[in-house]
Amino acid sequence: MANRINPSILAADFVNIESELGRIRSADLVHVDIMDNHFVPNLTFGLGMVERLQQVSPLPLDIHLMIDDPERWAPGYAEAGAYSVTFHAEATTEPVALARRLRQIGARAGIALKPGTDVAPYLELLPEFDQVLVMTVEPGFGGQSFMESTMPKLVQLRRAVQKTGLDVWLQVDGGITAQTIEIAAVAGADTFVAGSSVFGAENPAAQIGLLRERAAS
Ligand code: DX5
Ligand code: ZN
Repeated sequence: MANRINPSILAADFVNIESELGRIRSADLVHVDIMDNHFVPNLTFGLGMVERLQQVSPLPLDIHLMIDDPERWAPGYAEAGAYSVTFHAEATTEPVALARRLRQIGARAGIALKPGTDVAPYLELLPEFDQVLVMTVEPGFGGQSFMESTMPKLVQLRRAVQKTGLDVWLQVDGGITAQTIEIAAVAGADTFVAGSSVFGAENPAAQIGLLRERAAS
């Protein structure tokens, strides 16, 4: 199973984003956090910024929408060329319809679960998604501590993915460091978002290498 390391640019210097992207070339995808100050109590940027990122990023974009009303906005990110677009389960009543729309446009469709959201109702929907994002912190801010209490959801998801034989990526996001990544990998994650542990490192490339190593061990 190939693991993926997706640095989150939430922890990068937005003003010098092109050079920041240059520091993470050895990663797999660039994780882009979109926050609307409604679904989460924090605000980042929107579609215009992502359209520009799409032009300058050497790596494909992994969009994480922490926004209300994803039906209105998510398709635009797919149309902008994002590789994957993940919306929150808590923000929609029609996750399947939205996932189908994203796939139709050509993006991988992802669904994200906050730490308190039960995974059970989504297990039978797995064929509709290309990735499931298990939040390992409350969404909204970087630099928080990894919540090990979310790991049983990954175990359940990994079991369900194995049973169905589907190629659904299992992503974790929040508090992923060289110490915690192994816990998430053992539980069943194969795609790891890391913000502060990558951009806060003196040598982000070396940190990406270390995370890869730990995830594989
Ligand atoms: C939090 C975001 C994360 C954040 C992770 O709501 O979804 O992607 O950047 O940051 P770290 O890795 O610092 O916990
Ligand atoms: Zn994120």
